[in-house]
Amino acid sequence: MSLLELTNVSKEFSVGGTTTVYALDDVSLTVNAGETLAVIGESGSGKSTLGRLALRLIEPTRGSVHFQGTDMLALPAAGLRQLRAKAQIIFQEPFESLNPRMRVADIVGEPLAIHQPKTPAADRRSRVARVIDQVGLAPEMARRFPGELSGGQQQRVGIARAIVTEPSLIVLDEPTSSLDLSVRAQILQLLADLQTELGMGYLFISHDIHTVRYVSDRIAVMYRGRVVETGPSERVFADPQHPYTRALLAAALPVDPDQELPPARLVGDPVSPTEKVSGCVLYGRCPVGEDRCVQNEVRLTRFDADRAVACIKPGAPGS
Ligand SMILES: Nc1ncnc2c1ncn2[C@@H]1O[C@H](COP(=O)(O)OP(=O)(O)OP(=O)(O)O)[C@@H](O)[C@H]1O
Ligand SMILES: [Mg+2]
Repeated sequence: MSLLELTNVSKEFSVGGTTTVYALDDVSLTVNAGETLAVIGESGSGKSTLGRLALRLIEPTRGSVHFQGTDMLALPAAGLRQLRAKAQIIFQEPFESLNPRMRVADIVGEPLAIHQPKTPAADRRSRVARVIDQVGLAPEMARRFPGELSGGQQQRVGIARAIVTEPSLIVLDEPTSSLDLSVRAQILQLLADLQTELGMGYLFISHDIHTVRYVSDRIAVMYRGRVVETGPSERVFADPQHPYTRALLAAALPVDPDQELPPARLVGDPVSPTEKVSGCVLYGRCPVGEDRCVQNEVRLTRFDADRAVACIKPGAPGS
């Protein structure tokens, strides 16, 4: 049983009553216990929508979400509250996600007060102190307010708050994007250490290939609301098959002379998020696109034992 399983999930937002934004279109993915699935894609590709749906912070238009085998969408409010202790989220902007008027100890202890109200106050305090130590903050930080901390320290508080209820899953929505490079590395190391220690599954959202490359076991590449390629990170990085993945890697990484396929470059403009597409979402920008890419449905299809690609001619050499 997977820790998290999204099946054929779509999310459409209605804007102004007349326009529909197709934010997610028929996305299926899983996160297994203790592993990191990186979700990568450009701005507007649907990553945050996906992360929020995974925790039922928003409801899908279609599809199902299972957490540890439980149908999240069928849960009544009480069941959902219980489950929230086991599935947490860490946001991009630590400061905005922390209450500026609360001390660090109270911020970190808040989920315990909500989810385990019967725990004696002294036990809660010692648990908070332990978690503050676990994320590398000095004990005296517990009395400070968020505004008295650096960005990296603030994100450590966000992490402490997320792990205090001992969750099995954490959705990390660009957790290091707002941090300086050196601090970013420290936070990534902390997240990796905590995962080893506590065995949590991560749904790690990022637009930055360099960030996810070394932290992810598997990767799902998103484009315009769809997963276009998925598989073990090492294999996707070494031998990308979808023209979008290849363009993304070519733009971000030095060209690997051993790579079998030449890099792909995208042309033209992205299709509008308000346009319903049944064929390939990359059509019009794709260097190897053909008429049949727009005439037929193009869906994620098994490519080999553990990879899937949404392209009718994966790996075709591009310009
Ligand atoms: N509440 C909403 N109402 C209307 N449209 C929305 C809403 N939330 C998201 N969208 C739209 O859905 C699409 C996906 O947005 P989302 O925030 O999931 O993208 P993202 O991949 O997280 O982007 P970024 O990298 O910029 O954070 C975008 O076109 C966005 O404008
Ligand atoms: Mg986002």
